[in-house]
Amino acid sequence: MRKVFACALFLLLATWMTTARSDLVISKVDRRIDLTSHIVRVLSTLKVENAGRVVVSEILLAIPNMQAKNLANLKAFYNEGKGKGSAINLPVAEVHPEGMPRELSFYSISLHEGLEKGKSLTVNVLSIFTHSLQPFPEEISQSDVQLVVYQDSAYYVSPYEVKSQSLNVLLPGGRVESYTKHPSGKLVDSEIKYGPYEKLPPFSYSPIVLHFENNNPFVVAQELVREIEVSHWGSIQITEHYNLAHKGATNKGGFSRLDYQSRSYMGGRSSLRQLIARLPPRAHSIYYRDDIGNISTSHLWGDSRKTQLEIEPRFPIFGGWRTSFTIGYSLPLQDFLFVSEGNRFLNITFGCPMDEVVIDDLIVKVVLPEGSKEVSVSVPFHTKQWHETKYSHLDIIGRPVVALEKNNVVPEHNTYFQVHYKFNNLSLLWEPLMLISGFLLLFVACIAYMHADLSISKSSASYIAKLQWDEVQATVQQVQNVIRRCLSAHEKLETSLQDLSRTGDVHSCKATRKIADGLLKELSKELKPLMGFLQSSPQAAQIWPKVEELVAKEKEMQEKLMQKHVAVVDCFEKKYSGREIENRVAPYQQKLSALKQEVDDLLDYIDEI
Ligand SMILES: *[C@@H]1O[C@H](CO)[C@@H](O)[C@H](O)[C@H]1NC(C)=O
Ligand SMILES: *[C@@H]1O[C@H](CO)[C@@H](O)[C@H](O)[C@H]1NC(C)=O
Repeated sequence: MRKVFACALFLLLATWMTTARSDLVISKVDRRIDLTSHIVRVLSTLKVENAGRVVVSEILLAIPNMQAKNLANLKAFYNEGKGKGSAINLPVAEVHPEGMPRELSFYSISLHEGLEKGKSLTVNVLSIFTHSLQPFPEEISQSDVQLVVYQDSAYYVSPYEVKSQSLNVLLPGGRVESYTKHPSGKLVDSEIKYGPYEKLPPFSYSPIVLHFENNNPFVVAQELVREIEVSHWGSIQITEHYNLAHKGATNKGGFSRLDYQSRSYMGGRSSLRQLIARLPPRAHSIYYRDDIGNISTSHLWGDSRKTQLEIEPRFPIFGGWRTSFTIGYSLPLQDFLFVSEGNRFLNITFGCPMDEVVIDDLIVKVVLPEGSKEVSVSVPFHTKQWHETKYSHLDIIGRPVVALEKNNVVPEHNTYFQVHYKFNNLSLLWEPLMLISGFLLLFVACIAYMHADLSISKSSASYIAKLQWDEVQATVQQVQNVIRRCLSAHEKLETSLQDLSRTGDVHSCKATRKIADGLLKELSKELKPLMGFLQSSPQAAQIWPKVEELVAKEKEMQEKLMQKHVAVVDCFEKKYSGREIENRVAPYQQKLSALKQEVDDLLDYIDEI
């Protein structure tokens, strides 16, 4: 399919070759395509000549749409002076010039001073592409090598005539399955050379297809959220949430840890075993964790210029697999936060600190201290921006957050960016003031409490009084318990009478009475010392009359119940009729109900004290 597409592009462009006109001519192009990683980097050195009559202020670059959709970064620069002068960047912008082939995307390099007629200039163009190596075959087993396909043009695609050109493609080494030999391709070591080609018209295009071994893990962070939190109290806290996938050839037939470990050179050559994060020097409080918890298989080393964190996922990541984890670290504030003309600005790196990771969607959030105002950002490339507010403990109005989002991010985007803001130093005092007043309140409360505690110190009269009152309460409770046990003995007696009317078993009814009688006598013995204590305790003076009344009423109830029991059993023995029995028992029954009510009321009353 792709091959067909490339050929179609070739035919379409062929019709343009004679029509494009320009004053510029490219006298020489050296192109070098680096395919040693999974990120494709193309460095083209163009010698541009003004063959027209007027000054030219822009150079157009053309990239086939099929490639342009994966373009992550495009940079143009020239070296000042001859040889190794410092590189000066030239602004590049996407443009849509009239009357140009629609199969190409165009970018314009602006020249500061313009290029005068007859003059020439050497410009370097670095273009970086992601997702441009297609694994083929798409599925491999653990022991296979990873083969990929790359497509491009042997000729430099340009809207200008190109007088002389050459192309070198650098491969990672290992097997080369095939490569397009026409026109003039040859493989030398792990480099494929095309050209030199002379005098090619504008829009010349000649498709090439390379199929070769590339065992790099294709590490793609489908999403990376970096949070940079600035605290004026001395540190910057960075938290990075990764959601990584290996986008190389998909692993088929599962994973054998035995093969992987015993013959590590045989298996999983393209798997992701470890990642190295290059953190700034003096990074500290570093952690690496996932959903399960801390991961201890990480190593940290560093010197005064860098800190390196080597992290190993819990298992090797094969093609098609994914993993997510979080790393966090703190940086000293003074290394990244500066003051200029009364404003503050943060100068810190934008991208991912790890080698050769492509980030599909990067979100960088800078959390500024509460009270920061007039926040502005300067980033060397286009990003989507918005503002948020973050609340944490002690915050009143929340911390301003500026969020930046960028798609298709490569390591070259890991450059410095700046966040400028105004901050009143008084705002810095808010939180400590809140803390101080909080602590002050706490101390006051403590002193008050200590004071209160002193008044009931162990030697004082009130402390003894408190102990005595506790004892009275405990004793009253015991009395209540005894009375409740008496009441349950009463219930047993009543039940035995009901059983008697059903079964007529006088004998067992009498036995029950005997047991209940014994139990009630026991309980009344238990009550004696308790009542003695309450009567003598001055603390119990108020409650004593009620307790005394309770005990007396229960006693009366016992007597009436016994009389009733004896009367009923007697009637049964004399075989009186039901009506006769009812008549005899009625007076006791009335009295008993009244007493039961009084006892219950007293129990409730005492409970509430
Ligand atoms: C994880 O590591 C961090 C930093 O070393 C530490 O503060 C935290 O207590 C650890 N958590 C667990 C669950 O071990
Ligand atoms: C930001 O820091 C880098 C590295 O220290 C430095 O090269 C750069 O000039 C700084 N940028 C600004 C605007 O201060």
